Amino acid sequence: MKVLVTGGTGFTGKALVRRLLDEGHDVVALDYKEGLKTDEIRTWGAKVVIGSVTDRDIVEQAMEGVEVVHHLAAAFRELNVDNSFYDEVNVGGTRNVVDAAWMHKVRKFVYCSTCGVHGNIDHPPAGEDAPIQPADYYQRTKYEAEPIVAEYHAKGLETVILRPAAIYGPGDPERFQMIFRRVAKGSFPMFGNGKTFYHPLYIDNLVDAFMACMAPGVGSGGVYLIADEHYYPISAIVEKVAAALNVPSKIQYYPVWPLVVAGHICEKICKPFRVTPPIFPRRVDWYRQNRAFKIDSAKRDLGYAPKVDLDEGLRRTAEWYLKEGYISLDPSLSQKNS
Ligand SMILES: NC(=O)c1ccc[n+]([C@@H]2O[C@H](COP(=O)([O-])OP(=O)(O)OC[C@H]3O[C@@H](n4cnc5c(N)ncnc54)[C@H](OP(=O)(O)O)[C@@H]3O)[C@@H](O)[C@H]2O)c1
Repeated sequence: MKVLVTGGTGFTGKALVRRLLDEGHDVVALDYKEGLKTDEIRTWGAKVVIGSVTDRDIVEQAMEGVEVVHHLAAAFRELNVDNSFYDEVNVGGTRNVVDAAWMHKVRKFVYCSTCGVHGNIDHPPAGEDAPIQPADYYQRTKYEAEPIVAEYHAKGLETVILRPAAIYGPGDPERFQMIFRRVAKGSFPMFGNGKTFYHPLYIDNLVDAFMACMAPGVGSGGVYLIADEHYYPISAIVEKVAAALNVPSKIQYYPVWPLVVAGHICEKICKPFRVTPPIFPRRVDWYRQNRAFKIDSAKRDLGYAPKVDLDEGLRRTAEWYLKEGYISLDPSLSQKNS
């Protein structure tokens, strides 16, 4: 099949492109910028179209002869941009891509939303019918694109909406890397009581879900939370990261509220200068917002079955961070546990 992956050089996109190529599909990746990652996926055999999902001509070019679209491109990690940037890419860009898919008679359109549309989970674990209460502008725009996709489903396009939990694994450029880095230093600063629930999603498990969505009829018109089998208190995640690195897990507890205030102040001060703040509200939310989900609908309709558990996923991730030099271990720490 010819498959288009928007955001195909991102953390998730790259893993999906790799799997699609391994399974014999023709892959077109649409991505914003040229770089090492675009070169890498070209060497794997993917065609790369450079440009924005907001540019109709570029999207048309990428859509030529495509049967299945996985729409992952999103403004996500950008700080210091106006909210209108998130509107343009996440809402306008999605309309652009889904409309082009409809015009080109694409067979299946899969939209990658986020579990973040549910914000803090008041009654964990949450299903897809839990209240929609996005906690920030990114999450809000990810949700605003969902009814647009549903609109095209109503016209006759086969669509599936996935709401992934917190994705991690080899290649993760951000969130888990910070946890690993702090744990590797020998002591993890925990703001709050560490009991907040966190639901990880190993990258290969998510790729399994995308692949399952490609079959005709599967999940059509549905919205699915995708996560690993289990969720954990964040203190347990830290302990498991320490185990994956074979270092002692030492957690130091601090009150969370000063950090919340500092996050808001830092963001406000840094924004006019377009400087990335050292702490900002979305990062602080990690300590505060419950994320725990039910994956029964995905199991039932998509045949989703997360194969890689947290211990194995963290072991593979630790191996990758160490190999790539993202973290280094103090030998005196690793000896203590051995
Ligand atoms: N990571 C998570 O925990 C998580 C959880 C739930 C849902 N999601 C969703 O999963 C998807 C993938 O996330 P990720 O973590 O893999 O993010 P990522 O690494 O930031 O990947 C996003 C990709 O989209 C590209 N992109 C951004 N704006 C674009 C535009 N206007 N036109 C074309 N390409 C554009 C980026 O290109 P550049 O790098 O060149 O800017 C990047 O390659 C996103 O839709 C995100 O909302 C992520």
